[in-house]
Amino acid sequence: MAKNLQDRVPGTTADVDVAFLDIVDPDFRVDSAPVRAAAQAHWYARTPIGIAVLRYGECSELFKDRRLIQGSAQTLAATGISDGPFAEWMAGGLLSREGEDHLRLRRLVSAAFNQRSIDRLRPFMRETAHRLIDAFAGTGGCEFMAAFAEPYPAWVIAELLGVQAEDFNDFLGYATDIGLGFSFTAGQHRERIEAALAGLIRVCDELVDRRRQKPAGDLISALLVAEAEGERLTSAELRLLVTGLVFAGQDTTRNQLGLAMATFADHPEQWALLRARPELAAGTVEEVMRVRPAVPATSRWAIQDFTFQGLEITAGSQVTLLAAVANTDPAVFGDPSFDVTVPRPAQLTFGGGVHYCLGAGLARAEMCEALPILAARLGDFTVAGPVTWRPPIGIIGPVALPLRFVPGQDG
Ligand code: HEM
Repeated sequence: MAKNLQDRVPGTTADVDVAFLDIVDPDFRVDSAPVRAAAQAHWYARTPIGIAVLRYGECSELFKDRRLIQGSAQTLAATGISDGPFAEWMAGGLLSREGEDHLRLRRLVSAAFNQRSIDRLRPFMRETAHRLIDAFAGTGGCEFMAAFAEPYPAWVIAELLGVQAEDFNDFLGYATDIGLGFSFTAGQHRERIEAALAGLIRVCDELVDRRRQKPAGDLISALLVAEAEGERLTSAELRLLVTGLVFAGQDTTRNQLGLAMATFADHPEQWALLRARPELAAGTVEEVMRVRPAVPATSRWAIQDFTFQGLEITAGSQVTLLAAVANTDPAVFGDPSFDVTVPRPAQLTFGGGVHYCLGAGLARAEMCEALPILAARLGDFTVAGPVTWRPPIGIIGPVALPLRFVPGQDG
């Protein structure tokens, strides 16, 4: 556990006997028996960094509570990264902005993520999924993260931002290392994270410069118009937005796809169902995100003292919303077992309130297109070797996921 995190004092005045969960321990597991017991006993648990909210109703309410602000920059500082390029990037990005400032920036990019823009990308998604699978379908095996989960969303965000195919490889690879910056062990990876950020900034700057010289009808060109107007977007903000989108568009969906395949490896009958009934894809995406979320927790900080459900929360204290636990709240989901055929209340893995995931529609469409294609073309599969994992909180998922399947099932 990072020393600074360990030293933090819980910022609440809880006087009830609630469970203590060490969520900053690298061995912490959201789906463990102690976590389930804690959630059964109370809506929250104490942690080394404030409280963790465990139930669906309370998580949903607190996502929208304006007495809390998004806390990734503060959490990063607590892991030991409080200055330097990555801390500045985190503090300046859309996720860390609040109020009018946040609204202004979010409005500038939201049109690119509306349903029409996303639906236009669906044929490209399908074509990309097939092209990536073509490269390994005949071999009977792949390391899924490198062969599919990483390049697939990267191609999609590159298409959305107008990156030329010949420049694509430049964009690949940075997001995974930057993603480590959202874990409680970020401080241990500082060099790696900052090197990846420098690389990402360089390729994004080049992309923006090319658009500056030759505008097109795309998102970056629209942002350049806003930048030229000065009051709507500064040059520094433009860089933060573009790098933020290239990052967010890759690492999250990449991990969620890896988690989907790891889940189906444990539930081959559900995979067979999806293969037989591709119309289940949209529900499948929601169900996978509910039981194995790539973002299991989000961080909030109190900006004033307030009382919530009888608990005093003091200004400056941290509140961790454990969507991964709330997503299996038995009071809301009944039997929470993985089942792609059961309609459920909305899962909380895309967050809620003003910071609700900007790319939710895009991520849903990407997975909705990819999963039935994977099911049809890979058929039955098994995990073919040791799976390595990212740290348990942050943007999580497999680092490597070797799969084996019978080649040629897609005939
Ligand atoms: C399965 C994939 C994804 C998951 C699980 C996910 C999850 C999340 C969550 C939980 C938040 C809110 C964090 C908070 O409130 O503290 C968020 C925000 C955000 N996401 Fe995603 N995301 C995914 C895919 C994407 C994609 C594909 C993009 C776009 C390219 C994207 C862009 C963003 C942005 C820009 C924000 C910040 C929004 C704001 O602060 O207004 N995400 N995401």
